[in-house]
Amino acid sequence: MADSTTTSRGNWNSKLGFILAAAGSAVGLGNIWGFPTQVAENGGAAFLFIYLLCAFAIGFPVMVAELTMGRKTGRNPVGAFKALGDNKLMYSAIGMWGILCGVMILAFYTVIAGWTVSYVFEEFFFYFGMSEWATWISDTGNGPINAVFATVFMGGTVSIILGGVSDGIERATKLMMPLLIAILVIMIGYVLTQPGAGVGIKEYLFPDFSMVTPGLIFSAMGQAFFSLSLGMGALITYGSYLSKKENIPEAAAYVTLTDATIAFLAGLLIIPTMYMAQAQGVPIFDESGNLLASVALIFQVLPELFHEIGGLLGLIFGASFFFLLSLAALTSTISLLEVPVSYAIDEHDMSRNKAAKLIGGGVLIISLIISFDTSLIDVFVVIFNEVGLPLGGFLICIFLGYYWKTDNALKEMENGYPGIMTSIFAKVWPIFIKVIAPLAILYNLLSGLDII
Ligand code: PFF
Repeated sequence: MADSTTTSRGNWNSKLGFILAAAGSAVGLGNIWGFPTQVAENGGAAFLFIYLLCAFAIGFPVMVAELTMGRKTGRNPVGAFKALGDNKLMYSAIGMWGILCGVMILAFYTVIAGWTVSYVFEEFFFYFGMSEWATWISDTGNGPINAVFATVFMGGTVSIILGGVSDGIERATKLMMPLLIAILVIMIGYVLTQPGAGVGIKEYLFPDFSMVTPGLIFSAMGQAFFSLSLGMGALITYGSYLSKKENIPEAAAYVTLTDATIAFLAGLLIIPTMYMAQAQGVPIFDESGNLLASVALIFQVLPELFHEIGGLLGLIFGASFFFLLSLAALTSTISLLEVPVSYAIDEHDMSRNKAAKLIGGGVLIISLIISFDTSLIDVFVVIFNEVGLPLGGFLICIFLGYYWKTDNALKEMENGYPGIMTSIFAKVWPIFIKVIAPLAILYNLLSGLDII
């Protein structure tokens, strides 16, 4: 069985570097856009509660599984399943499915990430009184503009991936993550002192459990997998660059906690901001009385509020918000691209340079198609995100629990966590991997898709 030989492929320089890179992968549009949007769509705090349950009870054990498979083999998702699955095609196919999901998610994610950049410009145009330009650049239905910004975003992603693991990904995320957290906290501080924000806090923090339906649980689990970057092997890949000195369950706990905290904070920013917008006369409900969500929330309600605030403060608030979204998106797109790139390097002996440019260019072609027909985004989200990632997580649990075996995984985790075999973790984690997580995911997928 293969063991890790990570040095030639790259390594994280430090534990903090790894945690920030993995948290950077996790923290993205899923947190700052997806999560608050889902909260708004699904009855506020009830969604928050179910989401946290999914993240810690299902997401965390799967994250430990992915990181361990990655570190044990020192390979990309396909290589890891090949090595641990004794070269059986059936198991390599799980890794392949992960890579396919990653590529398709990257394709639509890049288009949305492009919007976040175009809205930084929109805020500046508006401030300088160029409202026609502002309207033109912020039209998310404008194919050529979408295509230009998607290309810019993919260019930025490829340039970081070209730098490699420690000089590219680690260095960039070490810079971007603290900046992102600082912007988020400052913005929350401002919003919470504004009129109307109090109503939003109440909506966000007081649950109405009558809203909990199979549909809500389905969305919360899909959101947890997406937000934690699970089910497609991103963390197998990031784990493959991890040193044997590191404590995997501890690192996974930090990453899960950071991701959940940022999602929580993003909700604390966006939901009160919506009510603050309402207090300023901006409509925040649709005709059927539901809170505006998704694209309308981020790219309609919020800009209207920034314009309403007006002046330099409106510009600073608006431009910082969209810059925050762009940063979050970039730390995620690099991990999405790193997965197929590491596959091409490991399995097809390609150079990093060639792999990054070729795959980045290939995915961009799909992004360009989506740029001209953005309704494809919803289709991709259902197939590759809401179904694809939990399905990948389910297969990872079954493979690790019943083929590679949790005892072997725990032995790998002993590196960096010497007392693990006698810990509570060693007793509980296998139950989650073998029984609780797969059953919960399966039930959720079947009921969410109206099969049972
Ligand atoms: N976790 C990212 C987000 O919340 O936006 C999205 C993502 C990144 C999903 C990387 C999957 C992945 F491998």
